[in-house]
Amino acid sequence: MGNDNLNSAKTARKDEFYTQLSDIEKELRHYRKHFEGKTVLCNCDDPFESAFFKYFVLNFNRLGLKKLIATCYSGSSIANKQLTLFDLFGGGEREKTTNKPYKAIVTTVYDKTGDGSVDMLDVAELFKSGENELTELKGNGDFRSPECVELLDEADIVATNPPFSLFREFVALLVQRQKNFVIIGSLNAIKYKEIFPLFMKNEMWLGYGFTRGDAYFHIPVKNVREFANGVYNPENGLVHFRNCAWFTNLDISRRHEEMILVKRYEPAVYPKYVNYDAIEVPKIADIPCDYAGLMGVPITFMDRYNPDQFEIVGMNWTVLADAELSDDIREHHNVARRLNFYLPIPDGHGNDYSRMYDRIVIRNRNPEAPKEG
Ligand SMILES: C[S@@+](CC[C@H](N)C(=O)[O-])C[C@H]1O[C@@H](n2cnc3c(N)ncnc32)[C@H](O)[C@@H]1O
Repeated sequence: MGNDNLNSAKTARKDEFYTQLSDIEKELRHYRKHFEGKTVLCNCDDPFESAFFKYFVLNFNRLGLKKLIATCYSGSSIANKQLTLFDLFGGGEREKTTNKPYKAIVTTVYDKTGDGSVDMLDVAELFKSGENELTELKGNGDFRSPECVELLDEADIVATNPPFSLFREFVALLVQRQKNFVIIGSLNAIKYKEIFPLFMKNEMWLGYGFTRGDAYFHIPVKNVREFANGVYNPENGLVHFRNCAWFTNLDISRRHEEMILVKRYEPAVYPKYVNYDAIEVPKIADIPCDYAGLMGVPITFMDRYNPDQFEIVGMNWTVLADAELSDDIREHHNVARRLNFYLPIPDGHGNDYSRMYDRIVIRNRNPEAPKEG
């Protein structure tokens, strides 16, 4: 018994936290027009636990969805612990013999109550009606497994909060299969060398997101000890993560909002880097309206990026050529591949230069004419 608990705690990985329905609602109301007639896949989502699944069931008719597919992963610490397929369908002796992940396919949702509410019981109802399907998967529900990739191929839009630790792989697969997506990840992912080029090529951008990146997720009670003090609030069962964002390739109006630029370029205010032909702009609000050359801006720029207004030219931590790196160096590629930008500011000891950190290099597509004189 004690060992069981210990093992459960060990397998309850740090990827195991669950998005709140209210956060999904807040984000997805900006994407409504994209869902009509579409098949949506939630491929890291236990239908009985996932608020993504609930959101799409609740809004199935309103959005005009064609189909909703959800799969769950056997590594999930809650998979099948709440209610098994056989609990649901009254499988008698077979009840305890299965612990397999399953897939849910929904094509019809009757709004019986009229109040739009769906709870555990309603989800169970959903599969009793016969039109919808809840079946076991052959494998473990890994999003990369052939049967899950087959479901991905069938889908138009993927909506989920994937395991953060597999974010690169998750996105790579979506790109490879040319899928639309709206997913949650860490803002740090922007810096990954696999992810940043997608931002540069306008194949991915940030959604509306969480207020200042602060996000609160549910976690299974047994994971509580894995978090530092103050991160978990026992009163509401939520953990606080910073730096969370929505990543998407669905068009949203935010992406077309033009940033009003109120500052003008002055060489004394905007020094050029010593080792790179760009000016340093430490705050997004200070981007000058009349500078035509390259500018180094903080990563928070991504929140305001409008591709008609700016071009993303690069970032300083992958400016270096993609040399053949060994895996362990690749792990630390921020260190191994960073081109530090230096500013021509004496550090008080002579000719040394102060060192700049992560900067995105941008160019204004339509700079205003510089002021005369
Ligand atoms: C951050 S949690 C989010 C869960 C759910 N999508 C939500 O938003 O509430 C990530 C989920 O991915 C599952 N997972 C982990 N590795 C996976 C894999 N290789 N394939 C599919 N799902 C995986 C975990 O079990 C976990 O439930």
